[in-house]
This record gives sequence, C-alpha cells and structure tokens, in this order.
Amino acid sequence: MRRPAVSSSPSDAQSQSSIRDAAGRTSTRPDRPDDIRIRRLATGDAHDLAVFYNGLSHASKRTFRPLGQTTTRSTCDEIVLDNMADRDTRMDLVAWHNGQIVGWCFIWELDSAAPTFGLAVSDAYHGRGLGTRLMGAVMDWAKQQRLQQVDLTVVQDNLVAQHIYSRFGFVRTDEFTGDDGLRYWRMSARP
Ligand SMILES: CC(C)(COP(=O)(O)OP(=O)(O)OC[C@H]1O[C@@H](n2cnc3c(N)ncnc32)[C@H](O)[C@@H]1OP(=O)(O)O)[C@@H](O)C(=O)NCCC(=O)NCCS
Repeated sequence: MRRPAVSSSPSDAQSQSSIRDAAGRTSTRPDRPDDIRIRRLATGDAHDLAVFYNGLSHASKRTFRPLGQTTTRSTCDEIVLDNMADRDTRMDLVAWHNGQIVGWCFIWELDSAAPTFGLAVSDAYHGRGLGTRLMGAVMDWAKQQRLQQVDLTVVQDNLVAQHIYSRFGFVRTDEFTGDDGLRYWRMSARP
C-alpha cells in the first residue's frame, strides 16, 4: 500500500492560555485547535501512545477500548510497526499537544475487505473539534487510498461519536449486544 500524505496543522507552535477556574486553580489549554499537530504514528511513539490510552477516563473506556482496559508498551510497539512501510496494515494518526498525545484515530485491518475505524480524544480536549479533525484526516487518507469500505462499531448511547460519524457518511448496518452487555451499532461508509 502506498505511503500516505497526511494533513497536519500548519504550525507546531504550542501557544496556550492560562485558565483560572472558580476554585482558583490554574490550568492551560490550547488557544486554537490549530495548536494541536496531527501526524501518522511513528517510531518512538509507542510509550506516548500507551500513556494516552491508559490515561483515558473510565467513561471514555466504556465506549472505546480496542486494546482492553489498559495497554502495554509492547502492544503499542506492534501498532507502530504495523504503520511502517514494510507492513502497512494499520493507519494510525495521533494528535500532539505539549509533548503529549491527546487524540488517536485509526483504520486497522487494511489488508481486509472491511478495515475498521477507531477514534478517541483525551477527556480534557473533548468538544473542541479535535475528534472531527482527526476523523477528517483519516477519512481523507482512506479516500486517497481508494478504500472501498470502512466499518466501525459504536455504543448506541454514544451520541457525540454518532453525530461525527454521520457527518462522514457512516450509516447503520446492524446492531448487536456486546460481551459487556451494551447495545452497539455497526456502521459503514464508503470513503
Ligand atoms: C467521540 C469523541 C472522539 C469526540 O471527540 P471531540 O473532539 O469531543 O468531538 P468534536 O468536538 O470534534 O465534535 C463533537 C460534535 O458532537 C456534537 N455533540 C455534542 N454533544 C452532542 C450530543 N449530546 N448529541 C449529539 N451531538 C453532540 C457537537 O456539537 C459536535 O458537533 P458539531 O461540530 O457538528 O457541532 C470523544 O468524545 C471521545 O474521545 N470519547 C470517548 C471515546 C469514544 O467514545 N470514542 C468513540 C468510540 S466509537
């Protein structure tokens, strides 16, 4: 499979605002979504991917756990290797801010008839357009690669994710009850 052209932000600048909440605590957040840089997973990213995944909240893990409740460095090493030119069986994009991965979007099983999509954003970065931006980049890549179909599963009460998925043309194809007892939709799109 050809190596991809992946869209990313125009700048690596990491400008931030200092926010003081009602309790007087300060924190930082990106001024603009553009401050977050998106690129393909690369050599050296495995540790940061594991930190990102293991740092997702319990609520996020309820709806996104492709690697189980927690992951390991060696599992993430394999994911990195699968993105290398000699394998090219997975396409993983990661969003970086302040030296940390804050979002992850992927299409796996690229050698199958129906590659599978996944998406997660760090809880502190929800609601700022990052999930939509990551998905846009991965679906642009899928279009460039002329993938015939991309599939995903989503918990039926995950309305935020379904809102984004429908914007990218995903439609419901089936439903099922997972091993976790939750109801899921299967969705599919032609990039
Ligand atoms: C799903 C997820 C990736 C979204 O990322 P995000 O960066 O917060 O999403 P965005 O800010 O790009 O977009 C959110 C959209 O949902 C919309 N939205 C917010 N609340 C909503 C609701 N209750 N119902 C429907 N849509 C809603 C927003 O208006 C926005 O759409 P718009 O851009 O058209 O206005 C993020 O919530 C996440 O990581 N969740 C945990 C992991 C997960 O569930 N992943 C999906 C597994 S299938």
